[in-house]
Amino acid sequence: MFYFGVDYYPEHWPEERWPEDARLMAEAGFNVVRLAEFAWVKMEPHDGQYDFTWLDRAIEVLAARGIKVILGTPTASPPAWLMAKYPDLYLVRDDGTPWTYGNRREYCPNNPTYHDYTRRIVTAMAEHYAGHPAVIGWQIDNEFGDRCYCPLCNRAFQDWLRRRYGTLDNLNEKWGTIFWGHTYSEWSQIPLPLTTCRSANPGLWLDFYRFASDSYVKYQQMQIDILRHMCPGHVITHNLMGFKYDKINYFDLAKGLDVVSWDNYPRTQWSMQAAVDPSTAAIAADTMRGLKGKNIWVMEQQAGPGGWEVVSVMPRPGELRLWAYQSIAHGADAIIFFRWRTARFGTEEYWHGLLYHDGRPTRRYDEVKRMGTEIKRAGDVIVGSTIKARAAIIHSYDSRFAFQIQPNNPKFSYPGHVQHVYRALFRRNIPVDMVSPTADLSRYKLVAAPALHIVTAEIADNLRRYVEQGGTLILTPRSGVKDEANAVVNAPLPGLLADLCGMTVEEYDSLPEGVTQPLQFTIPARPDQVARVWYDVLAPQGAQVIARYTQDYYKGKPAITLNTYGKGRVLYVGVFGNDPLYETFMSWLLASVGVEGVLSAPEGVEVAERWQGNRRLLFVLNHTEQAQDVVLPGRYTNLLNGQSGLTGTVTLAGRDVLILAEES
Ligand code: GAL
Repeated sequence: MFYFGVDYYPEHWPEERWPEDARLMAEAGFNVVRLAEFAWVKMEPHDGQYDFTWLDRAIEVLAARGIKVILGTPTASPPAWLMAKYPDLYLVRDDGTPWTYGNRREYCPNNPTYHDYTRRIVTAMAEHYAGHPAVIGWQIDNEFGDRCYCPLCNRAFQDWLRRRYGTLDNLNEKWGTIFWGHTYSEWSQIPLPLTTCRSANPGLWLDFYRFASDSYVKYQQMQIDILRHMCPGHVITHNLMGFKYDKINYFDLAKGLDVVSWDNYPRTQWSMQAAVDPSTAAIAADTMRGLKGKNIWVMEQQAGPGGWEVVSVMPRPGELRLWAYQSIAHGADAIIFFRWRTARFGTEEYWHGLLYHDGRPTRRYDEVKRMGTEIKRAGDVIVGSTIKARAAIIHSYDSRFAFQIQPNNPKFSYPGHVQHVYRALFRRNIPVDMVSPTADLSRYKLVAAPALHIVTAEIADNLRRYVEQGGTLILTPRSGVKDEANAVVNAPLPGLLADLCGMTVEEYDSLPEGVTQPLQFTIPARPDQVARVWYDVLAPQGAQVIARYTQDYYKGKPAITLNTYGKGRVLYVGVFGNDPLYETFMSWLLASVGVEGVLSAPEGVEVAERWQGNRRLLFVLNHTEQAQDVVLPGRYTNLLNGQSGLTGTVTLAGRDVLILAEES
């Protein structure tokens, strides 16, 4: 079943209102709601006293309308009585100050008392709802997050290091603690990288980030184990935050989950831009799908303008539906809107839902209701259909953490760079998998590993195997610079990848953003381009030169090279650039490996595909305000309205969507 629903907070509204809410939900075509992820205090108003009666009644009202329930474990939002009773539960920030009560996610994920209380509330909920016919699954906590720097985490970090390094001698050597004379003689001397130490050893720092990520993975697993044991038939998920979130290694977090779900907000308070770049939600969805290589759910799909202290741009008519279908085009088998009714109180008074503050349905409700009718028609065909990517991008959380610590150039952003490379594929409608550095790459004709900073022997072997067997690999600057301990390799760059590239990096130049370096392509019919921020001066050892610098003291020296290795090839792009640069080499490379987009379409029109067995489903998404024409390569049925025989040129209204099934 395709799950289509909304995040609902019955505890915010009088009980007499619930039946009306359930009626409106059913009319919108909703068949699922998420409940209770912030309702710990309602379920355990006093230490050890549980009360699920109100939740039972809410579920009953919803179930009477045929609506299923995903329950949130409420641990993101501890009750005031709990935090007052144990003040050491608070998460401590990187400047050493503890959080205070009043928001959420304020707990330390390693605190044993918090673990006890977590186990108790999760067990009580699981016992109560294990056999409930309306409950289908669980969301654990809510958007796991921040790193904790409390004394308890310091000790847990020291234990974590002891398990990782075995001996202090080993740790001292790997981190290079002789620098500034930091050699440790007791595990207990190892500090946390607090901002009060200014700039810590990069090895210690990266390991702390890994440890902080592991802390949430472990904390989540504790909850999964309880639920798996007590509610074996239920689906277990967590709502992740897409591509933008960067404090947890999401590949690790996803391992214990049945399904990855995520929260998709294209227009929020945090990004007040007037125009939405559709590649941002696309890369986020592809990243989420890549975590398990499986279809995903959207647990929070934007339902209105977002905002805590300020209000973000109102989603234009058609945008909510367009964004939700874009999520589906990238692998979602469930769409749950956040939130139902706009809260009248609390931090999120301005985070708008489908109903007004006063409970009336908005025009956004009508838009989603229209989608509900369409999903009733098309959902069964879509659900379970898969994406066959034609290219992959390697996304490394280790490298991402390392760049958080040392960005190399103040204007360099690892996620920004990865998205640049992604966009060059996205704009050609090429389906992309976002994969880990150790993923099996054999099914892809083209793989990009942008700024793959930390390269282990295992990763290097994986890339070597891929290229040897005929793959085409794109590498960019700052790849292969660091070993696993975040120390610079003892070899010419790009370190373990140098032989693959058939060149080494002779020198590099890091320049202010305003300074650019023109590049001249030596391959035919490629316009000159500019590079920015970072410039590797390359010394080919067998590789062919693709572009050269045209000014400064490295004028004439190679900036981009191409090497043949085994049956495959490696393109090393020794500069960071802008969209046209990536467009330039990507279009050339794609043509040479025979990778084509799903369909060519006007700018701003995205075309994606999913496969139901051998049946291809085309998703045509017009992200522009204007009507656009697309030429179809066969005969299609529009699954959204049942219209068949579509062929030749079809016109989509501004922000409209088509989901087409090929007619046999
Ligand atoms: C998400 C969160 C929701 C809500 C929403 C809007 O990040 O999971 O609980 O806060 O954002 O702010």
